[in-house]
Amino acid sequence: MSINKDIKRITTETLRLMKFENRKIAMLTAYDFTIAQMVDKGGIDAILVGDSASNVMAGHETTLPITLDQMIYHAQSVVRGVERALVVVDLPFGSYQSDPQKALDSAVRIMKESGAHAIKLEGGSEVKKSISKIVNAGIPVMGHLGLTPQSIYQFGTYKVRAKEEEEAQKLIEDAKLLEKLGCFAIVLEKIPAKLAAKVTAAVSIPTIGIGAGSEVDGQILVVHDMLGMTHEFHPRFLRQYLSLHSQITGAVAKYVEDVKTLDFPNKKEQY
Ligand code: KIV
Repeated sequence: MSINKDIKRITTETLRLMKFENRKIAMLTAYDFTIAQMVDKGGIDAILVGDSASNVMAGHETTLPITLDQMIYHAQSVVRGVERALVVVDLPFGSYQSDPQKALDSAVRIMKESGAHAIKLEGGSEVKKSISKIVNAGIPVMGHLGLTPQSIYQFGTYKVRAKEEEEAQKLIEDAKLLEKLGCFAIVLEKIPAKLAAKVTAAVSIPTIGIGAGSEVDGQILVVHDMLGMTHEFHPRFLRQYLSLHSQITGAVAKYVEDVKTLDFPNKKEQY
C-alpha cells in the first residue's frame, strides 16, 4: 500500500501528548486487512493486533496457543490496511517471559516482518529484563497489567483483579516500574475503576483501560466484541455498537433461501 502523505500518522509521541493535553485515546483490536482498514478510516488512534486473535480468529479457549508466526501473519495483514493509526502487536505467550534475548528476538521479528510500530507484553517486575532489552533496542513497548490473559491458568478465573490491597499495591508499583523502564503506555485490564484512576495519576505515560472505568487516558475493546460478532459474551464493561452475529447469520440464511428457491441469481445478476 502506498503511503498517503496528507494523513498524519499517530505515533507514541502523539499518545503521550494526548495524555498531557487531556484528550482521550480510542483504541481497538484488529487482526485482518479488511477490518483494520475500516477501523482506521473510522478514526481510531491506535490498533492492537491482540493475541485475542487466538480466541476470536482461531476459536481457542485461551490466548496461549497462538504462535509468533501467526501473530506476524495477522500483523502484516493489519499494517497493509492502516494509514493513520499506531499499530501495536502482542508478543504471544512463551515468546518473551523466559529470556530477555528471546524477548528481543521475538520483538525484532514482529517489527521487521510486519512493519508494525510497537509491541505489547503482559506483566510487571517479572518481565522487567525483557522490557529493558526491547526498549534499549529502540522498540516501543506497551505494558499490560491487571487481568493478563496469558496467566489465566495461574489466576484460574477471568474475574476482576487487584481488589485486595496487596495486589493493588503491587499493580501501582509495577505501573511505575513500567514507566521507569521506558514503556510508552500501559493497558489496564479488568481492575477496579478507583485503582485505575490512581495508577493513571501516578504515571506520566498513558493508561488504556478495558474494564477499568473512565478515569484512564484511553479505552480499548476487542473489535469482534464491540461489533457484536462474538456470541453470548456480555461482560459489564462491554458496550456493543452493532449486533453483527445475528445480522450476518440472518443474511446467510436469506442467501441460502434465495439460492435454493432459484431467486438468486436473477436475470440482472448474470452475463
Ligand atoms: O489481546 C487483546 O485483545 C488484548 C486487549 C484485551 C487489551 O490484550
